[in-house]
Parts: sequence; structure tokens; C-alpha cells
Amino acid sequence: MNCVSNLHDQNDRVEPIAGKLAEKPVGLLDFARLAGRNMLEVIPIETTQQLYLRGPLNIHYICDPEIITELLVGKGREFPKAKFTKDIIGSAVGNGLILAEGQKWKAQRRRYSPLFAARNLPMLSQYFAETGIEVAESLAEGNGLVDAAQMAPAATLTNISRVMFSGNQEVSAAQIRAGLRKYFEYISEISLFDVMGLPSWLPRRKWFKSNKPVTSMRYLARHVIEERRSQNRPEPLDFLDLMIAAVEEDFEDMETTVDNLLTFVVAGHETSANALAWGVYLLALTPDIQTEIRQEIKSISPQGPVSFEDIQQMRLLRAHIRETLRLYPSAAFFARDAGAELTVKGIRFEKGDALFFPVYSVHRNECLWDAPNAYKPERFLDTKIPKGQFIPFGDGPRVCIGAQYAETELMVLMASIVRDIEFSLTSTPIPRPVLTFTMRPEGPIMLNAQAI
Ligand code: HEM
Repeated sequence: MNCVSNLHDQNDRVEPIAGKLAEKPVGLLDFARLAGRNMLEVIPIETTQQLYLRGPLNIHYICDPEIITELLVGKGREFPKAKFTKDIIGSAVGNGLILAEGQKWKAQRRRYSPLFAARNLPMLSQYFAETGIEVAESLAEGNGLVDAAQMAPAATLTNISRVMFSGNQEVSAAQIRAGLRKYFEYISEISLFDVMGLPSWLPRRKWFKSNKPVTSMRYLARHVIEERRSQNRPEPLDFLDLMIAAVEEDFEDMETTVDNLLTFVVAGHETSANALAWGVYLLALTPDIQTEIRQEIKSISPQGPVSFEDIQQMRLLRAHIRETLRLYPSAAFFARDAGAELTVKGIRFEKGDALFFPVYSVHRNECLWDAPNAYKPERFLDTKIPKGQFIPFGDGPRVCIGAQYAETELMVLMASIVRDIEFSLTSTPIPRPVLTFTMRPEGPIMLNAQAI
């Protein structure tokens, strides 16, 4: 296809909505109060203006791509996940892949890596395309308005129930979706104690709120796994089949398999949903780019389900997805505890220090990017981004195992929807991003959605 792109000519675009970082130092008490509501408000704005910042106590904010790479891929690659991450999501995902450490983590990573191999993506794409077509049809039949912040999680939840909980005779898709929704509401509530890093035995507010959503979701997951196992399918037909095949090859106890099924659900739902919502908003903001991307989609997949092979040829759409993940990284912040003393580029990290990777600030850092707050998907067309500078999926041994899965899901959904629906802004203001469990829009993203 002709790739002399219009994208290169657009220098003066409107800057999309941005998060609000801390403009003055935040005291410890305010830190806990603000962080529970929106972690972006405690990340110092200086992290977008310089590559390293020493925070209070033993905190380091690290935005230098070389230091990031040394800590995640090089000498610091075995440093454990920060304790507070474990306190925040531990009750929901137990000892699954995302939180396990050492040999337990290695064994699980080895067991589950084949599930996410490229050879499985064409099969999974068929389910994503079904959802994409349904979303486009319902928008075409709707009243011409859509809240992208609602549309996107509904789409990724449908994908999850299709690829992970499908084919269950006794539990309906609607029941699963309702169970998952309650489960997400429960785990999205970050406790202030978690953020302050207080001991895990101190009671959290959400503990008093009955953890029924978690126990019923675990029950449902166990039930779905057992039932699917009993079906003895000769060929894996979805993600759950692939999971069962993996644990049959390399034994794992049932509770850890339940942890892992829920880990994949937790790690893959809101993250992809946020990227889809922000991605649709960015297209509404830049109609010229939206048209160009639609032309690309139509030239490759004029009708019918968008396939995995089709999206391999959609260069502009891929650049758009990457630019969306740069401006709005769903995992806008992650952290490690230094496991040993280490000096990198003259900066000394003591054992036990808190290593903060404010992905949001790395991706908008003025020392690293030209016009860091502008939406310019062309950055991802021809240039190679230096290692450590674009880290929406992390890096090193603990890089997101679902990165290709997520990119595929986002591209198939986006291509299926944008091919037939035109998005534009309304007079309703666009909400800011807020960071709790993931970085999501603070309220509805109201857009016009017209069939074309
Ligand atoms: C846009 C979507 C996604 C984003 C932005 C994202 C981001 C991330 C990041 C930044 C990490 C590393 C965190 C750290 O180093 O502390 C991670 C880990 C992980 N992600 Fe994702 N993720 C996405 C989608 C998914 C999906 C779809 C799945 C599974 C179906 C998934 C499963 C996981 C798992 C299991 C880990 C832990 C891996 C390990 O520690 O070995 N993610 N993700």
C-alpha cells in the first residue's frame, strides 16, 4: 500500500488531555490521602523535566532509559516487585505469575509462555474480531453518541468471557460478566495503607467490605477449569484450552491455576480497555489521522472479520496504538524494591530502597521526546525508539507476558470498529487520566459515533 503518509505534515496539532502531576512537594500524610485517589497527583512534575529525581525517604524516581534498562534487564533484573504492589493486588491474584518470585515465578513463566506465542494469536484474533463487529454494529444502531470509557471495558470484558470462560454449559456469559464486574470493582479500590506501605497484617478498609466478589470469582474460575478439563477437547480452541494443555504438560496445583486464570483476567482487562478508550478519543481529536487510518484499514480489510494477517499490514494503526500507549500507559507506574546495593551511572541504590518507574513521566519526559505532550503517531513509523524509553509493557524478565496478545486485541478491535464508525468530539469536556489500579479516564469520554 501507498505509505507516503499525511501524518508527517501535521506539526501543529492540539495537545490531548494530560494528567495532573504534583507541582510542589507532597508531605507524607497528603501522600497517602492523594495516592489512594490518584497516584499521578503524588508523582513530582520534575519527573517529566529531568531523568532522575531523589524522592523522600528511600524513594528514587527513575526516568533515564539507561538506568531503567540496567535495573530491569541488567544487574537489577532479579530485584523483587515492590511490597506495596503485592499488598494492593495480592488478595485478588494470590501467587499467580504477576506476583510470584524466585523459582516459583520461573516455573510459572516457563509453563505459561507458550500460551502467548505468536502461533496462537490468529486463533484468538477471531474472537476479538467477533467482539469488534458487535461493537461497531451496536454503535451503528445507537443514538449517535457513545461513552468510550464504558464501551471499551465492555468490549474487553466480552473478549475475556469469550476466550477464557467460553463453552461453559452451566454458567452463562452474562453471569460471568456480572461476576467479573463486581470482582473488578473490589480490586480497583486501593487501600491507603497499601500505598503507605504499612505492614500487611494491619486491617484494610476493603477487608471489612466482604471479599465475596473474590471468593465467588475463584469459585467460578475453578468450576470453569474443571468443566473444561472434563470435556477433553482434542485441539485447543481458546485461551482456556491452551492453559489447561500447559498445566497438563507441566503440573501445577489447582489453586495456583485459579490464581493464574484470574491473574490473566486482572492484568488483561482494564489495561487493554483504557488503551482502547484513549485510542478512540485521540482519533476523534484528530479527524485527518482518523480518516487516514480508516483508509488503511479499508484497503487491507474492506469487509468481514479483521484477521491477524490483516493487522500485520496496518502500519499506521500500529503507530497509533503505540502513540496511545505512550501518552496513556495503562500501567503508568510500577516499582521494585532494591534487592542489593547497586550503583548505576553514579547513582547509588541501597538494599531495600524503593525504585519507582513512573512510566507516565518517562513517556512524556522533555529530555527524551520532541513535543512530549503532543499526539504524533509518526514517531513510531520510521524511527527506532532507544531501549528503556518506551516501556508500556515494562522490560526484562518480568516484561508483560501478554504484550503481543494486548497489541493484537487492540488492533483487531480498533480496526473492526473504526472501519465502520466515525468518531468526533462533542461539547462535553474530556476527563483527565487518573491512576489507581490502572490509569483510566476519571469520567465519561462522550463522543459522537456515526456509521459511515
Ligand atoms: C495494554 C495492555 C497491557 C499493559 C499496558 C500491560 C502492562 C504490563 C506491565 C507494565 C507489566 C510489568 C510490570 C512490572 O514489571 O512490574 C505487566 C506484567 C504482566 N502482564 Fe501485562 N499489560 C497489558 C496487558 C496484559 C494482558 C492482555 C495480559 C494477559 C492476558 C497481561 C498479563 C501480564 C502478566 C501475567 C504480567 C506479569 C508477568 C511476570 O511478572 O512474569 N498483561 N503488564
